[in-house]
Amino acid sequence: MNQPAHQFASDNYSGICSEALDYLQAANVGDAPAYGNDEWTQRVADKFRELFETDCEVFFVFNGTAANSLSLSALCQSYHSVICHETAHIETDECGGPEFASNGSKLLLAKGELGKLDPTDVERLIIRRCDIHYPKPKVVSVTQATELGTLYTVDELHALRELADRHGLKIHMDGARFANAVVALSQTPADLTWRAGVDVLCLGGTKNGMAVGEAIVFFDKALATDFAYRCKQAGQLASKMRFIAAPWLGLLETGAWLRNARQANAMAAYLAERLKRFPGVRLMFPPQANSVFLELPESTVGALRARGWLFYTFIGVGGVRLMCSWNTTPQAVDQFVDDLAHSLA
Ligand SMILES: Cc1ncc(COP(=O)(O)O)c(C=O)c1O
Repeated sequence: MNQPAHQFASDNYSGICSEALDYLQAANVGDAPAYGNDEWTQRVADKFRELFETDCEVFFVFNGTAANSLSLSALCQSYHSVICHETAHIETDECGGPEFASNGSKLLLAKGELGKLDPTDVERLIIRRCDIHYPKPKVVSVTQATELGTLYTVDELHALRELADRHGLKIHMDGARFANAVVALSQTPADLTWRAGVDVLCLGGTKNGMAVGEAIVFFDKALATDFAYRCKQAGQLASKMRFIAAPWLGLLETGAWLRNARQANAMAAYLAERLKRFPGVRLMFPPQANSVFLELPESTVGALRARGWLFYTFIGVGGVRLMCSWNTTPQAVDQFVDDLAHSLA
């Protein structure tokens, strides 16, 4: 039934990788306690603690919007604000979920090159007002890898932490594509998170080869107090939790989470390399993770669509976004590039 991929639309279009599927099937033998009181959930939570080299608290929800919205609501009172980049997913693509979950915490939008927060602009938003009428800044939210396919370096994360410390703010990381950042930067998960000052990470499983399920990792355990109630109230406590936990364990134990990310990044690099050779095609940002953004004439966009290619043109600041995934093949890249050549001609 499924047609071969003719798409660079999203890593959400991909199926489930075999490692996640194998563990899902293994968890489907017999019965097990519900609501996370099963062995799979225990094992994967311990695996996360080993992976991050610290005693963190781990929760699972169904999707990234819930992970971001609920984790931010745990950091904020309703009168607080969250500073994020103007292209952040929490601002542009979560339908007000973070504000809704926190009963009104406001997002304040900062600028910055390449989809990354400029600390100077973040500080401007923090100090611009300190009166009772302004929603008190409480959190800085970063996306790693960013919505524009770029990466925060460890030094950039430390600079934001230093700024946050000066003003008593927490740091939230939207890591829907955290695995892609880990492999691209050749850093440990710990160095890219709590050692760089991240208080809570939303770690994407769906884009990394799972069917469903994101992990929320609290490095500051005090922030996780009563968090399970928040998940339950929001309808995000899976009764059959083992079917989210087991695929996660499959990704982590087999190393598939890094292999999958490496494949996606490699395909984006290959795609970018081939695209650079076309005169008249401009890459909009350095492709540092698994997406490539380019400017194309409208007629070419139409011609590619007429050839059946699926991709988005509304993400970030516009342009054609080509998103690679764990199952993107060099053949798909070649086919796209050939079709682009015909469409430009
Ligand atoms: C940066 C980022 N954060 C979070 C998400 C998760 O969103 P969803 O609620 O669709 O799982 C996405 C998905 O596209 C994303 O790109």
